[in-house]
Amino acid sequence: MYDKVDNYNELFMNLRPDYPIIWATLEILNPDKIVEYGAGSGRILPLYKQTHAKKIIGLDLEQKMVESFIQNGDDKERIVSYCQNICDITTHIKDADILIMTSSVMKHIEPNLRETAWDSISKSLGDNTIIFIDHCEYLYDQNKSTDWQSYFDTLKFWWAEEHRDNLKSFVWKKEVNHIDDILYYKNIDTNEEIIIKTYIYKIDDITDDIKKANLQYTQITNSFTYPHSKHQTNRFISLLTNNKFDKNRLLNIKNKIIGLLDIED
Ligand SMILES: C[S@@+](CC[C@H](N)C(=O)[O-])C[C@H]1O[C@@H](n2cnc3c(N)ncnc32)[C@H](O)[C@@H]1O
Repeated sequence: MYDKVDNYNELFMNLRPDYPIIWATLEILNPDKIVEYGAGSGRILPLYKQTHAKKIIGLDLEQKMVESFIQNGDDKERIVSYCQNICDITTHIKDADILIMTSSVMKHIEPNLRETAWDSISKSLGDNTIIFIDHCEYLYDQNKSTDWQSYFDTLKFWWAEEHRDNLKSFVWKKEVNHIDDILYYKNIDTNEEIIIKTYIYKIDDITDDIKKANLQYTQITNSFTYPHSKHQTNRFISLLTNNKFDKNRLLNIKNKIIGLLDIED
């Protein structure tokens, strides 16, 4: 699914809709150690590199993504990546200040494994680790199957301006049924087609699962902060911690992030 790294990187490395909110979160937390789950090839690395973090760790299921993350990090002392399944407990997160879970990464987990995954995350988390999560029920806010359509015509505002022309070479379509939310994308110059299989994961279900795993959350916002983004469905953009974390401290952090972004609570 994610082993065609060159094709993936060409399309997705300059995707930017979550950059402002991740930037604000990093700015407020000023982390020493950053870990990202489902980190892929390091799309967010430019933001991580600008922090004072001494350790930046990507965790991903796909070996080729792990290699690409290390290569894009280009600083083996500070930036590493490991193969790791979200469903398994890991020691990498215990002393992390922040765990990033962006791009609706939990949509990749089969519904019958979600409880295991959240339980492992909860057990792996340190008492002071804050999870930043961005989750959308449907990829690209699109809750119905579609025909092929152009990235440039439909989603260009999610990309950095100087990279939008590249989107003219890519098209996408979706197959949505009762549990699956499958994305197909294709480079029309090479005709190479990739299938990304995810599952519909409702926000009410994710918040229930979070609570069952003894985690608490506070939602920062329900949309990206880009003025041109159009949304048909809400996003769950939140901070999560284990239940021992001081709730007032968490709310204070959230309010500071909101203050930096100048968005409505
Ligand atoms: C859409 S990509 C997102 C990459 C990156 N977080 C970003 O925002 O650009 C999703 C990544 O999650 C990884 N992934 C999927 N299932 C996973 C699992 N069970 N455990 C760890 N990583 C997983 C995939 O290999 C892929 O690299």
